[in-house]
Amino acid sequence: MCGIVGYVGDSDAVPFLLEGLGRLEYRGYDSAGAAVLNHGKIEIRKAVGHVSSLVEEIKSHPVSGTSGISHTRWATHGGVTLENAHPHRDASGKLALVHNGVVENHKDLRTELESRGHVFASQTDTEVISRLIGEAFDGHGDKSRDGLVEAAREALQQVRGTYAIGVLHEDLGDFLLAARRGSPLALGLGDGGQFLASDPAAIAGWASNFVYLNEGEIAWLDGKKFEVAGIDGSAPAPVVVRSMEKAAKAGTKGKFEHFMQKEIHEQPESLREAMRGRLIADQGTACFHGIERSPEELRQWETLIFTGCGTSFNAALAGEYIIEFLSRVPVECEIASEFRYRNSPLEMGTAVFALSQSGETADTLAAMREIKRRGAPTFGICNNPFSTISRESDGGIDLRAGQEVGVAATKSFTSQVLVLTMLGLMLGRMRDLRHTEGKKILSALEKLPDLVAETLEVDEVVRRIAKKYAASESFLFLGRQANFPVALEGALKLKEISYISTCAHPSAELKHGVIALVNESTPSIFIAPRDELFEKNLSNIEEVKARNGPVIAVGTQGDDVLADLCDDVVLVPACEDFLTPILTVLPLQLLAYHIGVELGCDVDKPRNLAKSVTVE
Ligand code: M6R
Repeated sequence: MCGIVGYVGDSDAVPFLLEGLGRLEYRGYDSAGAAVLNHGKIEIRKAVGHVSSLVEEIKSHPVSGTSGISHTRWATHGGVTLENAHPHRDASGKLALVHNGVVENHKDLRTELESRGHVFASQTDTEVISRLIGEAFDGHGDKSRDGLVEAAREALQQVRGTYAIGVLHEDLGDFLLAARRGSPLALGLGDGGQFLASDPAAIAGWASNFVYLNEGEIAWLDGKKFEVAGIDGSAPAPVVVRSMEKAAKAGTKGKFEHFMQKEIHEQPESLREAMRGRLIADQGTACFHGIERSPEELRQWETLIFTGCGTSFNAALAGEYIIEFLSRVPVECEIASEFRYRNSPLEMGTAVFALSQSGETADTLAAMREIKRRGAPTFGICNNPFSTISRESDGGIDLRAGQEVGVAATKSFTSQVLVLTMLGLMLGRMRDLRHTEGKKILSALEKLPDLVAETLEVDEVVRRIAKKYAASESFLFLGRQANFPVALEGALKLKEISYISTCAHPSAELKHGVIALVNESTPSIFIAPRDELFEKNLSNIEEVKARNGPVIAVGTQGDDVLADLCDDVVLVPACEDFLTPILTVLPLQLLAYHIGVELGCDVDKPRNLAKSVTVE
C-alpha cells in the first residue's frame, strides 16, 4: 500500500509528482504529500484525503523545484492526520523521506532514538527511518552524496520489516536516494530527468525506460545517471532496463462514470484477450507460453495448490471446482495470509500457483516465496507481467485484463476464472479428457465473450433491483459448486463498495445455522443457474421463502420456475455448467456497483481500502 513518486531533472518536479500520485491512488488515498527542493530548501506540502486535496493545497501554497518526492498514503501506523502524512523529516529538518511498507521494530527504534534526544513529529513507523538516516548522515564526516548512501545503508541495516523509500536532502542538490526491501520500487529513465515510482504506470509517458529495484537494493540518481548496489554492500543483480512501452498505461474512464463500471463492461474484451493465441483448435486444448513445461513434466503434477487473497482467492476456489471437473487433478486453495505461516505438507509432484491481480500482494508474495524456498515449482497468475510475483515465480500466466483501476476487482476475477478453466482444459487433455470433449469445451470458450456481452445487458434490470434493496442492512449470498465462490465474490463486492454487511455460504449450509438470519428485511441472493444441482437450490430457496425472506435469484434465461418463486430474478444466457461462474458473477458485480452508487459511496475508492495490499 502507499504510492511513491520522485523526480529529479531539468523540469519542475511538481506536475510529475502530482499526476504520478493520482495514478497511484489505487495504492492508498488517506492523505498525500510532497517534498520539493526549492532554491536549496526542502518545502513540504501535505493534505488529508485524496491526491486532489494535495493539488488544492499546492494551488493555495505554490511550490516548485527540479527535484522532489511524493507519497499517497494508506495508513498503517498512526491515524489519518496531517502529521502522519508523508514525507517525514529527520531531526535536522534537511532530509525528507517517503516510505511504503511497515517497520516491524519501529517501537524499539523509536525508544532508542528518543533516548538520544529525538522528538518525533508523527505516530508513524516511517519517521524512525528518516531520523535514523539523518542521524547517521549528520554523524558522518562525509557530507557528500556518497555519505548519504553510506548513512542510508547503515540505518537500513537496523530496520526490520518492509520498505520502499525515496529520500531527498537539501544539502545535496538535485539528487534522490531510493531503497527497497519487500515493497516494489522502480527507477524511470528519461531524457530530461529521472524518476522513482512504486509502479511504472505512474510515470508512463514521461520516462522511456525503467528498472525495477531488486530486493535489498539501494539506488541513487540525479537527472542523468543512476547507480544501484546492495544495501549490505553486496554487488547488485545485473540491471535489467525495460521499455516503458510495455508497462501498463494509466486508464481513463471514457464514457463511464466510474472505473468500476467501465471495467465491468470491458469484460467481453478482457476475456477475448485472455484467450488470444492460447487455444489450439485442432488439438482441442489450451497452451500458455509462461508455462513451458514438457507434457511429461506436466503429467507429473499430481496436486495443484492455489493461493491468493480476497477476490483472487475466490477465483482460485472457482478454479478448484472447474479444474477438478475437467482434469481430475486435485486442487487445494489456500488463503495466502494463512498459508504462509502454516506448516502444510508439500508433497512431491505439487505445483503452486499464486493468483494476484496486482502481483504485489504482500501475503501472496510471501506465501509464494516460502513455497519456492521449499523447492516446489511456483507460477504466478497476475495482471502485471512485470510485478514482483511474475518476476520471482518460475513461470506463469498473464491475465491480460488491462489496468484495473477500481479498487473492487471485477474484470480480473473473470479473467482469473477463465485462465484457470483453460489450465484445466490443458491438464485434462494430457489425462483423460477426449479430443471431442476438448473441442466442445474450446468452442464453448470461444462463445464466452459474446455471452458475457449479452449478460451485461441486464444492467438496467439490476439497477432497478439495486434501488429496491439498497436500504437493506444485510444480504445473504448462496450458491453451490463453482457458484459458491461466486456467492463469496458477490458478498465481497457488495460489502466493500457499499459497506453493507454480507455473508456467503454454500446453499446447503443454510439449515446449519445461516437460516437463523432470514427475515423479511434480509434479502437472500441465490446463484441458481440451470445446472445439475438446480433442484437442490430450489429447495433452499423454498426454505427461505417459507420464512418470508425476500429472494433475488440469478438464473438461466428461459427459467420461469425461479420467476414464480422469487421476488426478483436476473437471467443469464445458458452455457456449459463449468462456465456459469463467469456469467453469474456479472449481475452481482453490477448489483454492488449500483447499490454503491445509490448510497452515494465512493465506488472506485471505498473507505479504508487500497487496490494493492503491499503490507502484511
Ligand atoms: O492484487 P491481488 O489480486 O493480489 O489483491 C488481492 C485482494 O486484495 C483483492 O482481490 C481485494 O480483495 C479486492 N479489492 C476485492 O475486490
